[in-house]
Amino acid sequence: MVVPEPNALNSSLLYRSLGNRYPVATRAEGVYIWDAQGKRYLDFSGSAAVNLIGHGVPEVLDAVAEQAGKLEFVHSSQFTTEVAEQFAEELLKFAGSSFYGGRVFFTCGGSESVETALKLARQYQVEIGRPERFRTISRTQSYHGATLGALAASGNQRRRQIYLPMVKDPEAFGHISLPYCYRCAYGCDGSGCCAVQYANELERAIEESRGTVAAFIAEPVSGATLGAAVPPQGYWQRVRQICLENEVLLIADEVMTGCGRTGRNFAMEHWGISPDILVLAKGLSSGYMPLGAVIASKQVVNALEEGSGHFAHGFTYNAHPLAVAAGRAVLQQTHPMQLVSAANSDLPHSVANTLALELARLRACNSVGDVRGIGLLRGVEFVSDKQTKAPFAAEMNFSGKVAEASAGRGVLVYPMQGCVDGTAGDHLLIAPPAVIKKDQIAPACAALKESIVEVESEIKGNSR
Ligand SMILES: Cc1ncc(COP(=O)(O)O)c(C=O)c1O
Repeated sequence: MVVPEPNALNSSLLYRSLGNRYPVATRAEGVYIWDAQGKRYLDFSGSAAVNLIGHGVPEVLDAVAEQAGKLEFVHSSQFTTEVAEQFAEELLKFAGSSFYGGRVFFTCGGSESVETALKLARQYQVEIGRPERFRTISRTQSYHGATLGALAASGNQRRRQIYLPMVKDPEAFGHISLPYCYRCAYGCDGSGCCAVQYANELERAIEESRGTVAAFIAEPVSGATLGAAVPPQGYWQRVRQICLENEVLLIADEVMTGCGRTGRNFAMEHWGISPDILVLAKGLSSGYMPLGAVIASKQVVNALEEGSGHFAHGFTYNAHPLAVAAGRAVLQQTHPMQLVSAANSDLPHSVANTLALELARLRACNSVGDVRGIGLLRGVEFVSDKQTKAPFAAEMNFSGKVAEASAGRGVLVYPMQGCVDGTAGDHLLIAPPAVIKKDQIAPACAALKESIVEVESEIKGNSR
């Protein structure tokens, strides 16, 4: 096969960054991806916190091929399929006892799942006789997807700024702030004393909107936007209580944190919380096929069953047989491959524990202000001054430069900006597949450290 030379200027693809030269990926196996030049990259961010099972797992590839050989597609308004029925049943079991009697709606990814969850919450309120409830509350530093509804719920300034005129409806979407321990707005000393203060912002927002709030949506651990910022103990418990007291549905957006990534089947389990609606994608199929899901609790399902009997929503590719076959095979391998325990950083011998220890060494770098996270979802935040925690100027693109330098060394990480105020603030997301080996972690962290030092000295040189 002739692989074209990557050339930003003559590509017919509309790239994310039009001037970029992207390497051409040709194959992947385990934790590695190879490009057309034969260069090998360690997938230290699981692409974008997508892949937990590793690349090229034969059981998953075979399941998709087998399904394709039998039935590639039917429309969900005309048929159901054996593979979707079985996977939904297995996924409900994986979600635990609080979802017994619930049901699963399969989509093609995170944004579709978020749209589905927001509409399901709204319809729930209508079905139980509360048509005045239509508002969604979410959090300022959050990302829920690229479609306009999901973007309206998102707080990520960089990703939503220019689309705001299209999505801005102050009536429908409200935002509260969220725990960000490294830069606590309540001046907390790290003891978690701010947990209730942050949670009570939700109570105030619900009060102010005078009975119009249908749902609260949030990521259990802030993913891309803040870089694995873990909330203090007590936050989620208080949020759950507020939602129950006000009969507002709690939607957990576990697109990034779900399906084992944090060392639990779902991240909310760390706090003993069961949401009313669970939103999944990414790790659900580990990227083998485009797949997302919304799991609705029994209470939500009952409201529809006993009400109109219809969910007024759908996509052509709901429960696509090839995608659900991939997801089902991934879930079937999750237990035998011990993916969730590998991602459990509380277990001293897990790879997640090793990752946490190795990444902590990056604190020695002048520009590393914080290293945080849980399980196999980790963040590194850069600052220009450790004392004041001042960020680098956004134009410097510090995290982007580190990611580029690291890719040059064959280690892929996920750079983001905006953690401080929506624009400034550089961080990286590290989220490798759970099949990474301990002896692959230290060299990857060493390469990352070298990359950070390289960018630090480049910036120092430029400022002379
Ligand atoms: C928490 C969260 N929700 C939703 C999405 C959107 O998912 P997708 O890109 O699959 O549409 C993302 C993507 O990064 C995410 O991290």
